[in-house]
Amino acid sequence: MGRATNITWHDTAITKHDRHLQNGHGSCVLWFTGLSGSGKSTIANAVSAALYRMGINEYVLDGDNVRHGLNRDLGFSEADRKENIRRIGEVAKLFVDSGTVVTTAFISPFRSDRDQVRTFFEEGDFIEVFVDCPIEECERRDPKQLYEKARRGEIKDFTGIDSPYEAPEDPEITIRSDLLTVEKAVGEIVAYLQAKNII
Ligand code: ADX
Repeated sequence: MGRATNITWHDTAITKHDRHLQNGHGSCVLWFTGLSGSGKSTIANAVSAALYRMGINEYVLDGDNVRHGLNRDLGFSEADRKENIRRIGEVAKLFVDSGTVVTTAFISPFRSDRDQVRTFFEEGDFIEVFVDCPIEECERRDPKQLYEKARRGEIKDFTGIDSPYEAPEDPEITIRSDLLTVEKAVGEIVAYLQAKNII
């Protein structure tokens, strides 16, 4: 398949700023990153529910769900994970432009891929949330029994076992999910959004 040529970028009549004025709040991406089983999806969904109750336009893009649809052609090789993250980054950018507080819950193990996505956004619109949980605890939880399978060699390239996880060096928010309740984690994230005048 060749790349499209002869295409031009159309500026839209209504801008992100117009939508912020109509909504009465700003938009951003809360980019969760962390090991499988660290609690990304649980906390992302709890944040989303809290924002919804506050009347804020929100949406969650979740790894396991997006891999059933948009990214069903991708696996877990380094190249495929890179493409997975690039596409999610582009989708998240559309959500931010639409005036939504979008939360993404993907392992996104490679620092360079996350840093690349950060460049898609205006300053302050990309908020990296490191869901920090020791691998021993993730493996103890093992909600999908994937660590067990990876240890038995039934899954290859499993993050934290035989594929690397590169923790963020300077994330906007760090959540120690083994020490905080989900409620407390949500409270910290909502407080951050309020402090930045996004909501
Ligand atoms: S990412 O690395 O490309 O960001 P993503 O978050 O989309 O990963 O998908 C991770 C989810 O896929 C895990 O939570 C787990 O349920 C499942 N999974 C299946 N195989 C693997 C694997 N080899 N490594 C990590 N997760 C896997």
